Amino acid sequence: MALLPILCYPDPRLHTVAKPVQDVDARIKALVADMLETMYDANGIGLAATQVDVHERLVVIDISEQRNQPLVLINPEITWASPDRQVSDEGCLSVPGIYDGVERSAAIKVTALDGEGRSRKLEAQGILAVCIQHEMDHLLGKVFVEYLSPLKRNRIKTKMLKARRETERA
Ligand code: NI
Repeated sequence: MALLPILCYPDPRLHTVAKPVQDVDARIKALVADMLETMYDANGIGLAATQVDVHERLVVIDISEQRNQPLVLINPEITWASPDRQVSDEGCLSVPGIYDGVERSAAIKVTALDGEGRSRKLEAQGILAVCIQHEMDHLLGKVFVEYLSPLKRNRIKTKMLKARRETERA
C-alpha cells in the first residue's frame, strides 16, 4: 500500500472526465487499497480516483466515526435523485481549508460495483448522499467550488495558488 499524492485545485487535471473501470482486477484492487489509505491519512470522508490523477470511475468513502466502514463504488450511477434538495457545508481534500454550502438532492439511489466487482444498489440520504454526489462530480471533472459564485471561486483560486507558491518556496 502507498499514500498517493492528491491533486489540488485549480490543477487542470481535476477537470478530466473519468472513463469506466473495465475490470475489477488486481490493479484496481491495489488502487482501492491505496486510495483508502490516502483518504484515511488525510482525514477525508471521500476520495475520487480523479483526485489522485487516475481517470477511471472509482470512489472511496467512509463517513463512520470509527473510520472502519469503507465504501467502494466502482462505475457508480445515480438511478434516482429526490426532488427535494438540501444545502450543506462541503469541503474537499483537493481544496484544503475551504468549506462552503452546496445544494444537492437530499436522497439518492445508486448502483455500482463494490471493491470485489460485485454489483450492488444502495439508497443514501444525509451526509452519505452529499458525499456520494460530491465524489461522483469529481469523476465528471467537477470540483464543488464550481457551484459557488464566480467571486468566491476566484478568491479560492487565488488563495490556493498563493498557498502553492508558499509551499514551493519553503
Ligand atoms: Ni472532493
